[in-house]
Amino acid sequence: MRRILITGSNRGIGLELVRLYLQQADTLIFATCRQPATADELNTLANPYAGRLKIIQLDVTDQGSIDGALQLVSRETDGLDMLVNNAGILPGGIAATEATAAHFGALEVDAMTEVFRVNTVAPIMIAQHFIHLLRKGHHPRIINISSDAGSIALRDSGINYSYAASKAALNMLTRGLASDLHPDGVIVTSIHPGWIQTDMGGPTATRTPDETLPTMVKVIDRLTLEDTSSFFNWDGSRIPW
Ligand SMILES: NC(=O)c1ccc[n+]([C@@H]2O[C@H](COP(=O)([O-])OP(=O)(O)OC[C@H]3O[C@@H](n4cnc5c(N)ncnc54)[C@H](OP(=O)(O)O)[C@@H]3O)[C@@H](O)[C@H]2O)c1
Repeated sequence: MRRILITGSNRGIGLELVRLYLQQADTLIFATCRQPATADELNTLANPYAGRLKIIQLDVTDQGSIDGALQLVSRETDGLDMLVNNAGILPGGIAATEATAAHFGALEVDAMTEVFRVNTVAPIMIAQHFIHLLRKGHHPRIINISSDAGSIALRDSGINYSYAASKAALNMLTRGLASDLHPDGVIVTSIHPGWIQTDMGGPTATRTPDETLPTMVKVIDRLTLEDTSSFFNWDGSRIPW
């Protein structure tokens, strides 16, 4: 049985990843989210996939919540085959309407810090807490859902300062972790899911989740240790750091 933990799985890309991995035979999904009680779409999956879907409370910025989630997961399994660090924020959405996190001249410490807490600090803290389970996994992997906005090489505008910098920093953590965990056989990559119609991507995004995520799942599932420390696009092509 393939054991997979996904953060931010109550909506958007995380929810779609839960659906796609449940459709695969022999998977056990730890679908984590901040508020399981109101995660209606996630809860509707609990019946058809009873026994293979565990919905677990996890606010990725809350230490107590991470500890609690680890306890619950550890009760169910002694190993984890994949961690998907998906939860993320882009204040004001793609139009960067929340200027305090996005626009030079209006930036504020608290708004910027919150973006870094969710998009950068949380993924590494969660990896740190769950690593002993991943080390016992089968072809284990940590997938950091990044963004092409975090590519320093592709950057040619200043918009969305916090979001872009938080994803660039996440990419740096991918590289560091990939190096540290290579001896344990744990694959670590960043992947850009495409510009997708979710609450974050907005209605004008170029693609729907259906159009990119089944392909992205195939890319994730085909990864080997040779691919560790890479930055992929959803279709398997490489994105420059
Ligand atoms: N959509 C795109 O076009 C696009 C493009 C590039 C990269 N990405 C990346 O893809 C990932 C998912 O994005 P999305 O489009 O699905 O966004 P979304 O629809 O806005 O969903 C974001 C998810 O993250 C969760 N989240 C936020 N803060 C959290 C916290 N402190 N603890 C736990 N969960 C938290 C949200 O939970 P709540 O419901 O509780 O807020 C929600 O489940 C993000 O990392 C994003 O940066 C998206």
